[in-house]
Amino acid sequence: MANQEEIFKKVVSHAKEYGFIFPSSEIYDGLAAVYDYGQLGTELKNNIKQYWWRAMVQYHENIVGIDSAIFMHPRIWKASGHVDAFNDPLIDNKDSKKRYRADVLIEDHIAKIEEKINKECEKAHKRFGDAFDRQQFVTTNARVLEQQKQIDEIRAKYAELMNANDLVGLKQLILDLGIVCPVSGTRNWTDVRQFNLMFATKMGSVIDDSDTLYLRPETAQGIFVNFLNVQKSGRMKIPFGIAQIGKAFRNEIVARQFIFRMREFEQMEMQFFVRPGTELDWFNHWKEERLKWHLALGIPAEKYRYHDHEKLAHYANAATDIEFEFPFGFKELEGIHSRTDFDLSRHSEFSGKKLQYFDSELNESYTPYVIETSIGVDRTFLAIFSHALKDETLPDGSVRTLLSLPPVLAPYKAAILPLVKKDGLPEKAREIIDMLKYDFMLQYDEKDAIGRRYRRQDAIGTPYCITVDNDTIVDRNTEGRANDNYNTVTVRDRDTMQQQRIPIENLRTFLHEHIQPIR
Ligand code: GAP
Repeated sequence: MANQEEIFKKVVSHAKEYGFIFPSSEIYDGLAAVYDYGQLGTELKNNIKQYWWRAMVQYHENIVGIDSAIFMHPRIWKASGHVDAFNDPLIDNKDSKKRYRADVLIEDHIAKIEEKINKECEKAHKRFGDAFDRQQFVTTNARVLEQQKQIDEIRAKYAELMNANDLVGLKQLILDLGIVCPVSGTRNWTDVRQFNLMFATKMGSVIDDSDTLYLRPETAQGIFVNFLNVQKSGRMKIPFGIAQIGKAFRNEIVARQFIFRMREFEQMEMQFFVRPGTELDWFNHWKEERLKWHLALGIPAEKYRYHDHEKLAHYANAATDIEFEFPFGFKELEGIHSRTDFDLSRHSEFSGKKLQYFDSELNESYTPYVIETSIGVDRTFLAIFSHALKDETLPDGSVRTLLSLPPVLAPYKAAILPLVKKDGLPEKAREIIDMLKYDFMLQYDEKDAIGRRYRRQDAIGTPYCITVDNDTIVDRNTEGRANDNYNTVTVRDRDTMQQQRIPIENLRTFLHEHIQPIR
């Protein structure tokens, strides 16, 4: 089996080769951690956004969606805490001159210990065969317990240092763990410094400090500052939510892992406003709901896990990540945070406008508490894409590259293929396209042998291939007998490769039934 690095390389090269994702500004040698979505990537990305929007906005009568501007008043970022505290601790290696995030160096060190645990498990699995119970093994094996203890101690120490903003201690931890620079191999580190992740720019023609704007590092603040507008104009009653999908920008120090960590990316966020005191119930509700959303895509449950935060931001009273097993290990895909009344209170304080809600049932006004769900579009793309991509060995020994995307997210829902480029088959295929194109994204392909065309569609995740052949257009055979297959087509299923004959008039219903939006 290919190792994780090879799988990841294949993901990146497949995404480029088939028009999903290109490095930005490639003909100028690219721009680090910035990517462009190609013709198929854009379709897949739009489908992911639509899938989220449907689940969050369309299926909830108490959640509405907005689209706020990227540029916002600079005081918003003072109020939100981003100007003073949206920092990453960074450290340089004096020999290689490479810059790293101190927390990432520590996480990578932990990942190496986790890798050792996995190896122990694999060895034991081989030894015990089907009787192997991973849970029992990791809670009883002395070596694994020792390794897990090391991980827990490092995490606890790191949380303690970050809580105390102890940068000297953080450098000492890196030295104590014997972490070396992956490039120079030395421990010749600078001190740890804080680095603000917001991109600054200037607005208007007068260049002075008061004109400094920031490209938003999250979409959430656009929701908070519109809380009153939406609540009043939409006559929203608590509990209610405001959702938004949009671009966010962060000057990430460590730019790697493809679209996992980008400098320009997209978020899908929802802020749910609740009565104070009920927030932890709602936090648990959204924690479960969001995991259900992921699982509805049909990706196995073991690819996801919760990671409850030990170190809470000062304004949060609960936080968890939904992590996904990417080709480079389990990493954060989505965050669910109970943010108390912090954001609305701060914006009240900084703007001088009272951001409160009059609760007619209680006959009192209060500042609502907020549960946030926040997920990256690009990370979701990477999770789904990397899970879907596989090389499958067929019974005849040949290998096909398959992108088994959930049909609802696939760029094309069906490919319409005339078996040959003559005898009226292309014309019939075009008729079918005209009949279905208002309902589905379709691709027409008449080039090469049918087998090669199937493979091309497998590689881009098209769930159905619809083939038009001679039987489709000939109503009687040469002896004048009626042809039962007249006006029918062959429909091939991407995953099973099974084919069935379907009347053209049933195609729309067939596709609708098989490509339903997930509920
Ligand atoms: N409003 C809360 C917030 O922004 P976050 O954990 O910083 O929380 C939420 O970000 C999600 O946005 C992450 O779980 C991740 O999916 C995505 N995300 C964050 N930074 C990203 C980056 N540099 N590139 C791609 N996605 C990113």
